[in-house]
Amino acid sequence: MPKPIGIFDSGVGGTSIWKEVAKMLPNEKTIYLADSANAPYGEKSKEEILRLSIKNTEYLLGQGCKIVLVACNTATTNAIDYLRSHYNVPFIGIEPAIKPAALHTKTKKVGVLATKGTLSSSLFHNTSKLFAEGITVLEQEGKGLVELIEAGKIQSEEMKTLLQAFLQPMLDQNIDCLVLGCTHYPYLMPVLKDILPEHINIIDSGEAVARQTKAVLEHNNLLSSVAEPEHIFYTNADVEVLKDLVDRPTAQVAYLDF
Ligand code: DGL
Repeated sequence: MPKPIGIFDSGVGGTSIWKEVAKMLPNEKTIYLADSANAPYGEKSKEEILRLSIKNTEYLLGQGCKIVLVACNTATTNAIDYLRSHYNVPFIGIEPAIKPAALHTKTKKVGVLATKGTLSSSLFHNTSKLFAEGITVLEQEGKGLVELIEAGKIQSEEMKTLLQAFLQPMLDQNIDCLVLGCTHYPYLMPVLKDILPEHINIIDSGEAVARQTKAVLEHNNLLSSVAEPEHIFYTNADVEVLKDLVDRPTAQVAYLDF
């Protein structure tokens, strides 16, 4: 029996990563957990983020997953070291894409929009130090954005006002790259494009994570070749918001108190 890829996020945002994975690995079964009842993780303590990440991982491993994709920057930056050292499957994480932004920027100024939990983590700081030497990294906490996305309010006036307030100070300081450091934020692309001038590069890590997932499966001889594989999505909150974002009629989307 081919085993599925397990994916979890604090909520619906990691489906932006699932889409890249399903595109790059069309013959893999997937199980996705949206822990929306506990979103946002970004405002929680490291201990709490770790506890929730363990809960999600154990559920996925109980379902026979062969690899776990932590489709959440906040959970990755706070919990992936622990997960890797305590469970016997490969883990793929996601972090703000500072390195490509640092390579790309001409103004030597890069903006990062992420959660408080990500920006305050030592993993994020180490990555910034390592890859952004000589570059000014302007950090902005996206407080409130995840809650609005979880409530299905992507195109709302509230969202536009919040984003404008977060981005204007970075624009005033002449950034030319904006790193989306949270897997919920790719869904903000239409709103971001309205606010940001055209020359600003918006960078997210979705495709890179899918590529890495494929490489790790290959390396561990874990690739599957299922024709029309199942994609199962569980949420412990609103099924409709998740269904809308997954946007694939053949996917199974259900409520589960995991
Ligand atoms: N998708 C999560 C991330 O990438 C959102 C975190 C949150 O729930 O605050 O960081």
